[in-house]
Amino acid sequence: MTFAYHPFAPMPPTHSWDLRKFVAPEFVFGFEARKLVGRYARNLGAARVFLVTDPGVLRAGWAEETVEALREERIEVTVFSGISPNPRDFEVMAGVEAYRRSDSDFIVTVGGGSAMDAAKGIGIVASNGGNILDYEGIDKVAVPMPPLLCIPTTCGTSADVSQFAIINNTGARVKIAIVSKALVPDASLIDPATLSTLSAATTAATGMDAMVHAIEAAVSNAAGPLTDVHAIQALRLLQTHLAAAVRSAEDMEARGGVMLASLEAGLAFSNASLGCVHALAHSLGGYLDLPHGECNALLLPQVVDFNFASAPERYSRVGEALGLDFRGLTEPQIRRRLCDHLLALRRELGIADGLQARGLGEKDIPILARKAINDPCNATNPRRPTVGDLETILRETL
Ligand SMILES: [Fe+2]
Repeated sequence: MTFAYHPFAPMPPTHSWDLRKFVAPEFVFGFEARKLVGRYARNLGAARVFLVTDPGVLRAGWAEETVEALREERIEVTVFSGISPNPRDFEVMAGVEAYRRSDSDFIVTVGGGSAMDAAKGIGIVASNGGNILDYEGIDKVAVPMPPLLCIPTTCGTSADVSQFAIINNTGARVKIAIVSKALVPDASLIDPATLSTLSAATTAATGMDAMVHAIEAAVSNAAGPLTDVHAIQALRLLQTHLAAAVRSAEDMEARGGVMLASLEAGLAFSNASLGCVHALAHSLGGYLDLPHGECNALLLPQVVDFNFASAPERYSRVGEALGLDFRGLTEPQIRRRLCDHLLALRRELGIADGLQARGLGEKDIPILARKAINDPCNATNPRRPTVGDLETILRETL
């Protein structure tokens, strides 16, 4: 199977040769990668595996297949599937109890962002004690997790390659970001075949999450040459494959292209970090329990409009990677064209209406903006927002 590759257009340089670190796990990408799980777990020293998944992935059969592959290697397996979308703090803590009871020494996770983030949360607390909410922020995880092997089954979150875990603080109704090199998995088996059971709506939402990862990484204050390459290539792949992948579950070339885009976007954002779309989406997702990718898709055009003047050249490269032709246009025209395109794209993918239709009211906006201003993703946004700016963006998204 072939994927469409394109030559790279130059990104405007970052600030001379600023120091940049690039962290990524070992990963295998391609059809049947998931079938290597037994070999990888054995080589990484697993004797008793704690397998974290969710009810939907169990129904699709991906978890059962993984359990069988591990047992063939004479590895004991305990399955934990008590995970909801937007994984809750108390679910992570229940997982820690189950992990300890099972006497496991290794974590495998099969699922989307919710299962993978929960698995990371379980690993953090299993090694460091306390409560998962104690680890909010950057570099708060002192002791490494148990070995972690990821098999992603969606095409957006990229928790399988990232330094991030996002957990829902149910008391405060906000999703917290835990960012640490300790959260990079030991290995990931990224198999586009797992997308064959993904609904159109989840393909659209997770694909848009990947798009926002790539865009926020491309314009991040912490971007560098190594993250630029992956961010721009992710956008080109999404431009080529996302709409077709949403239209048909049988189009495995398109779904594979989106899976590869998700991987590249993950490598970019894990190292360049994110921006205001994610800061607001974390606040919104915890408050209304909405799908993360959908929140991102809704907020993206308004945040691009807000940020554009702070990184016009980089946003122009983003637009070109998405297939737009800006020749002869002024900067304000480019900005309008890009925002209109992102709005049309999400509608084409079936993400219609705004936040009001999803239950958000004017009275919620100040609360959400105050929660979002504390999110670490704001730190790398090209324009530093105030609480008032975040309120305006939310109001425009109603
Ligand atoms: Fe995301």
